[in-house]
Amino acid sequence: MPPLNFSPLLMPSIAVAILFWIWISRYLFHPLARFPGHPVFAISDFPLAICVRSGRSFAVMKEMHRKYGNVIRIGPNKLSILDPSVLHTVYKSAQCFEKDDAYALGASKGQGIFFIQDRSRHAKRRAVWAQAFTSASIETYTPYLEMTINRLMTVVMKNSVKGPVNLGRVFQHWTFDFMGLMTFGPSKPFNLLESDDPNHFVENCQEAAEYFQTLGEVPFTFKLLTYLPLPNPIHQLQKLSEQKIKDAQSSEESLSGAPTICSLLLKAGLSHADVIDDVLFAIQAGFEATATVLTFAMYYLVSDQDILLQLRAELDHVFGPPSPSRTTPVLNYGILAELPYLNAVVKEALRLGSPFPGLTRVTPQPGVMLGGHYVPGGTIVGVPVHALHFSSKHFSPSPEKFEPRRWLPGKDGEEKFETDESALITFSFGPFGCLGRQLAMKELLVLIATLVHNFDFTSPDNFEQEKFLDGVRNMKITYFDVPLMVQVKSRAS
Ligand code: HEM
Repeated sequence: MPPLNFSPLLMPSIAVAILFWIWISRYLFHPLARFPGHPVFAISDFPLAICVRSGRSFAVMKEMHRKYGNVIRIGPNKLSILDPSVLHTVYKSAQCFEKDDAYALGASKGQGIFFIQDRSRHAKRRAVWAQAFTSASIETYTPYLEMTINRLMTVVMKNSVKGPVNLGRVFQHWTFDFMGLMTFGPSKPFNLLESDDPNHFVENCQEAAEYFQTLGEVPFTFKLLTYLPLPNPIHQLQKLSEQKIKDAQSSEESLSGAPTICSLLLKAGLSHADVIDDVLFAIQAGFEATATVLTFAMYYLVSDQDILLQLRAELDHVFGPPSPSRTTPVLNYGILAELPYLNAVVKEALRLGSPFPGLTRVTPQPGVMLGGHYVPGGTIVGVPVHALHFSSKHFSPSPEKFEPRRWLPGKDGEEKFETDESALITFSFGPFGCLGRQLAMKELLVLIATLVHNFDFTSPDNFEQEKFLDGVRNMKITYFDVPLMVQVKSRAS
């Protein structure tokens, strides 16, 4: 028999033909084929993973919704739904949809609360966590809040003598220190505020979240990783958690009897691996999102001095100007919680400071009606947070503008705003929603008010505001490629 002589182009041609067939079948014959979207996202999950990796998927989603409509296809089996009428069914109700495999972090031995997909196991774990977030528990953390805010103010004053201060970095260190105290108690604190994080804990947490978010778009890669060693940042953080748990076990010390998250988890009899992953998640969940919203809040306040001065006027009216004779410069939360303009500033920061593409869930079998469309069972769906928060249908006029007045009742003769409160979804809701919401609101109100009351903030001449927003990248965590550099001056001096 003569030898078979295949052309060197045969194999690549077969590969191209197979890919073309996969694309045609997914694009034209798939049950989701009737939903519009960019054709490249119909081929495979990889284009979305690449988009997520760029950090700008939140902006891409917003643009795609503008172009293709409210319900769009963003993966072979994925829809993005820009419609608050589906929030109750997808996230809020007791029968809300399950988390999809993007949460199935197979590579770790334990399972933190965030990664548990099974509803009843998740509910049991959440009941343990919930003890740390009752109003009474949150009250017991107040000394930590005051102590760390005082330290933050000292660091800001010290750094401001040398020039503009990187406020975003200071906020990350503050929230990390505060979450460290709440999770492990005060025996061996992180003290990143003073040390400037020589062990790169913040960076490690960011890299770990980035890895989780990117691979989550192609969940089978998680399963492959089960057989490989964990990437270095996660491994290092697990070692850190292990050490911190040991330290916390050997010390019963705590301020005002506050139960630490670690002690609650240990008492609940969870496996050691589960506790490691849970305490790691506590720090991660508690430090990053809060620091991000704070950074956005201060960016918008410094960029618009009229708004900053209006907030200052409200604070001075209630507390008087700052004075060294006050026992503490940290303002009282009970009073702050009632101040309308401050609350409007925080809501506006939560709206514009949520650069998230959407939290994914799976539709139940055999399928459901969502926003007037039939969606087959097993489809991955999510409501795009950033796109919703920037939608003129729900926040008008000028949804891209930081405008606290949109949250306040309008006065006669003033510009009228239309604000759909139900479309503010920063903390998500329901059985998987944010447990730290009340605590985060307290941190945001107290820190923003205390800073604006005590300091003047201005932008340095070379700070380019547009570049700051263009440099925002989100991969679960948020990177600010252009740091928020701010000139700070004490009002009391
Ligand atoms: C402004 C700050 C915060 C924002 C915007 C935020 C947002 C969120 C969101 C959107 C979720 C749901 C994620 C998902 O379904 O994939 C979540 C979950 C969670 N957050 Fe927050 N969060 C903030 C602060 C905090 C703080 C301070 C804590 C305290 C530890 C915390 C603890 C949690 C926990 C434990 C969960 C998981 C709940 C569960 O799986 O049952 N968060 N957060």
